[in-house]
Amino acid sequence: MNPFELSYQALMSSSITEKITLVSKLHSLKNQQALDYQSTYKIDPVENPGRPIKPILARFNTMPKRGKSDIGFIETIHAICHIEFNAINLALDAAYRFREMPDQFYQDWIQVAFEESQHFQLLNNYLIELGYQYGDFDGHNGLWKMTFETDYDVLARMALVPRVLEARGLDATPKIQKRFENSKFKPMVGLLDIIFNDEIGHVKIGNYWFHSLCKQRSIDSISTFNQLVIKHIGSELRGPFNIEARKLADFSDEELDYLQARSALSTT
Ligand SMILES: [Fe+2]
Repeated sequence: MNPFELSYQALMSSSITEKITLVSKLHSLKNQQALDYQSTYKIDPVENPGRPIKPILARFNTMPKRGKSDIGFIETIHAICHIEFNAINLALDAAYRFREMPDQFYQDWIQVAFEESQHFQLLNNYLIELGYQYGDFDGHNGLWKMTFETDYDVLARMALVPRVLEARGLDATPKIQKRFENSKFKPMVGLLDIIFNDEIGHVKIGNYWFHSLCKQRSIDSISTFNQLVIKHIGSELRGPFNIEARKLADFSDEELDYLQARSALSTT
């Protein structure tokens, strides 16, 4: 089977059920070693990947402020569910778009897509238990925007999507868990534990491929990352960082120092 064609179909599917089914199929074929990674399948830019009609994508500044009311907690669960849905597309695009990488690269991103689809289902099932479902609140498009903007080079994608956007989740999760701990939505703490552990693995995969590409191109990883951050983000690298989790995801001390310095710059 052709993994690129299958990844593209899953990426472009606007049906949640079909997307999840296709991701499971990709994952099983990957595990059965039934995928042939030598492909000339087309590479299209994807400005809008497949997603259901709802949630409506709102601009960041029109998103409601989440308070401590029940509905505020439910909106937070929905927001994380939306991130996980987008993360399926992020991983599928990484598996689909970049060619001439080692087979392991595609296997890694298919694995990530599968885990993200599980995270999405965990959260959507919990929303359903609470009488809601994915799509009941607005979402945002920040994650896909950066994915689309880094479609020109696998190095830029690895630098900025897993290592900045997804790693942000590692920084934020413990604080979100604390908020849920003392609420009537305590099952979220356990769900976020599962997600957090998997996400460390996803960021680690991003770090591995970013460094491997820097080495292959004989370029310095810190200054390359710095140039990409300036080009795509500016000086606003948001801290504070979860140093312990980032270390587990293979950020080096030198990289962590860089992050701290950049976040200090953006606050002055
Ligand atoms: Fe996830």
